[in-house]
Amino acid sequence: MLIMNIIAPISVQFCYACQVVFAASLGNRGQVGPFNTSITLDFQDVLVNTRGAYNSTTGIFTAPVRGVYFFMYSGLSNSTGNMGLLLMKNNNYNVIATLQHVAGDRMETATNSISLILDVGDTVSLQLSGNTWIFDNLFRFTTFMGQLLFPL
Ligand SMILES: *[C@@H]1O[C@H](CO)[C@@H](O)[C@H](O)[C@H]1NC(C)=O
Ligand SMILES: *[C@@H]1O[C@H](CO)[C@@H](O)[C@H](O)[C@H]1NC(C)=O
Ligand SMILES: *[C@@H]1O[C@H](CO)[C@@H](O)[C@H](O)[C@H]1NC(C)=O
Repeated sequence: MLIMNIIAPISVQFCYACQVVFAASLGNRGQVGPFNTSITLDFQDVLVNTRGAYNSTTGIFTAPVRGVYFFMYSGLSNSTGNMGLLLMKNNNYNVIATLQHVAGDRMETATNSISLILDVGDTVSLQLSGNTWIFDNLFRFTTFMGQLLFPL
C-alpha cells in the first residue's frame, strides 16, 4: 500500500512520438555476399516498424525524435568464410562490430548490442564487411532491431 501511494502521483502520458520500434530479419535469401566492398544489409522481412522509421529497401533506420535508442543485431554464417558486421551511425561512424573468422564447415552466430543517443534524422544501419558473407532463411537466424528507450 505504501509503495502504491508513492507511485500514484506519477502519470504515464501517452506519447505517440515515443513509439519507435523496428525488428526485421534478412529474409529467406540463403547466402548473401561476399562482395568486394562493404555493403549496407537490407533486412527485408519486417516484423514490426512503428512510425515507419526503418526503410527495408535501404536497410536504414532514421531517428524520428531525439532520444536514447537501443540496437541489437545477430548474424549467422557459414564458417568456411568470414562474417564481418559493422553497426554504422550516419553511414560513416562504426559504433560496434563483430567479426567471425573461418572456423570450419559449420554455421556460427555472432551478435552485439548498444545504446546510442540519436538526434532527429540520425541514421543507423548494419554493414556486411567486404569479402565476407552472411546467411538467413525462413527461420530468421539473422536479425536487426532497434527501439527508442526514452526521448531526450
Ligand atoms: C567489385 O564488384 C563490382 C560489382 O560486382 C565490380 O563492378 C567491380 O569492378 C569490383 N571491383 C573490384 C576492385 O574488384
Ligand atoms: C525507402 O528508401 C527508398 C530509397 O531511398 C525510397 O525510394 C523509398 O521511398 C523509401 N521508403 C519509404 C517508405 O520511405
Ligand atoms: C558452407 O559452404 C561450403 C562451400 O564453401 C559448403 O560446401 C558447405 O556445405 C557449407 N556448409 C554449411 C553448413 O552450410
